[in-house]
Amino acid sequence: MKFLITGAAGQLGNQINQELRLIGVDDHDILAADKKALDVRYYDQVKKVVDVFQPDVIFHCAAFTDVEASEKIKRDLAYEVNLGGTKNIVNAIKDTNIKLVFISTDYVFDGKSQDLYEIDSHKNPLNVYGLTKSLAEDIVLEYKRSFIVRTAWIFGGSGHNFIEKMVELSKDHNKVYVVCDQIGSPTYAPHLASMLIKLALSDKYGIYHITNEGFISRSDLVRLAYKYLNIDTKVSDILTSSLQSSASRPLNACLSKQSLLDNNFELLAHYEQAVEEYCKKLKRR
Ligand SMILES: NC(=O)c1ccc[n+]([C@@H]2O[C@H](COP(=O)([O-])OP(=O)(O)OC[C@H]3O[C@@H](n4cnc5c(N)ncnc54)[C@H](OP(=O)(O)O)[C@@H]3O)[C@@H](O)[C@H]2O)c1
Repeated sequence: MKFLITGAAGQLGNQINQELRLIGVDDHDILAADKKALDVRYYDQVKKVVDVFQPDVIFHCAAFTDVEASEKIKRDLAYEVNLGGTKNIVNAIKDTNIKLVFISTDYVFDGKSQDLYEIDSHKNPLNVYGLTKSLAEDIVLEYKRSFIVRTAWIFGGSGHNFIEKMVELSKDHNKVYVVCDQIGSPTYAPHLASMLIKLALSDKYGIYHITNEGFISRSDLVRLAYKYLNIDTKVSDILTSSLQSSASRPLNACLSKQSLLDNNFELLAHYEQAVEEYCKKLKRR
């Protein structure tokens, strides 16, 4: 089987590339395309790569992920990459049997519910990034051989992530302020990548929510990472409403993983185990 990864230099794309190699997929059967190799905004580029490489599976990870910039300064770019790029991929494969794994986000929801978000819960993105991903989902849904995977709070792949940023901050701060009212599930990139490959090898198409198990606030997540890393910096709770941010963010990002169970897939490990594993890795660096 041949695998194309878009956005392969990003946190998740890079991890999928590594996981494919770990399970023994041959070099020649993986095209890990970074933005230089494949800019998804250009249909001709997408079509050419699909026609020449002829993948069996596409992991579409490429995205403009800067939530703040998407809101105002780079709104057009967010639409061009997240919506336009996804349209280009779906158009390029519409007459093929290629499986498409599209990575989406908890930000398609407004986070105002008191319950877990199910795969068919009402979507109502609060920010432009979430809206572009939600519109892209609608395009992907029209393609039969597709998996839409909503995930959240990814950490532990290459590049920067929330935990790593907070560890960096601790180096020259005795105290950090972190929001305590955003609740969700951290997602360890190696665990997610491995599950995405399992999905892609199946024909159980549809929408999935995939994160590590358990729910935690952002501030408690930082406390947990600091504990595993023996960092003394104090974590103070603040409210999301006190932040000077152009983009609104959902407070409840708790996703139900029922569709994984319904399709006989295993759930990912609990986030505590994942954060501990990641912190051990950070310590060894
Ligand atoms: N990180 C999270 O917590 C999170 C949560 C939910 C969902 N997701 C979704 O998961 C996927 C992977 O996220 P990630 O954390 O790996 O993000 P990331 O590290 O920002 O990776 C995205 C990659 O896409 C590339 N890219 C941007 N514009 C492109 C274009 N026009 N053509 C091709 N590639 C382009 C970026 O390259 P440059 O950096 O060079 O621009 C980057 O390498 C995304 O679809 C994201 O929406 C992420």
